[in-house]
Amino acid sequence: MMYEGKSKRVYVKNSNTLIMEFKDTVTALDGARIAEAPGKGILNAALTAYFFDMLKKEGIENHFMDYDGCRVITVKKLNMVPIEVIVRNYAYGSLIKRLPLFKPLTKLTTPLVEFHYKSDELHDPLILPEDVVNSGLMSLDEVKYVILTSLRVNEVLTRRLSECGLRLIDFKLEYGRDLNNKLVLADEISGDTIRVLDSDGRHLDKELFRRGGGVDDLIKAYALLAQRLGVNVTV
Ligand code: ADP
Ligand code: CDP
Repeated sequence: MMYEGKSKRVYVKNSNTLIMEFKDTVTALDGARIAEAPGKGILNAALTAYFFDMLKKEGIENHFMDYDGCRVITVKKLNMVPIEVIVRNYAYGSLIKRLPLFKPLTKLTTPLVEFHYKSDELHDPLILPEDVVNSGLMSLDEVKYVILTSLRVNEVLTRRLSECGLRLIDFKLEYGRDLNNKLVLADEISGDTIRVLDSDGRHLDKELFRRGGGVDDLIKAYALLAQRLGVNVTV
């Protein structure tokens, strides 16, 4: 095992390939709230495989290689950039906390791309694109690539979810560098990392747990999200 994070275990398969095992653990508040949600690992692995495969078919290169049909995906090994890229279509969550002028779910005039420095101790602070470049985390060209790619991901996900009667509020992406130093989209796209509402305004994502809800409701919501997308997964 190379790394154990809050929601995944990462194993080295060979010098270019990793195995990612999705855990049933669910966390919120930078890991301060933690619980076991049986079924979450399978649901998130299946959804991540589904979304990354779809993005690949849309020409958006990413780390996904293979899915075992259970809780494991095989991915290209990357050198991760410690940045969380958040794309927002509607005001919610930390955007409202930092600027309470927004009413929740106000549609943004254009999608917003934010950079957050990945650090639980610092609570993933929002940083400027200039900070990303000046600190040496990414070059200016890389920042431009990440913004354009993240907006393309947003278009693909928004379209697919809306076909299923679902509204994409926001989501988080991560990127890493391959052996040629090229940035590649990585990590996961699942109920843990997106906010999505059904036509009745119900969350099919981790917001339920963040607000203090139980794990049974969370698993039901994740299973419904998979079902709406036509992702076949038995929990
Ligand atoms: P966290 O580190 O936030 O607790 P996880 O439990 O999801 O997160 O752990 C997965 C780790 O694997 C994260 O640190 C993520 O940045 C990293 N990662 C994701 N994709 C890749 C990849 N293709 N190559 C190397 N590391 C990756
Ligand atoms: O409201 P909160 O502080 O959790 O965060 P946010 O910045 O409003 O989150 C925006 C989007 O990024 C949501 O879809 C979160 O699920 C996702 N996110 C994530 O996946 N991981 C993080 N560490 C933070 C946000």
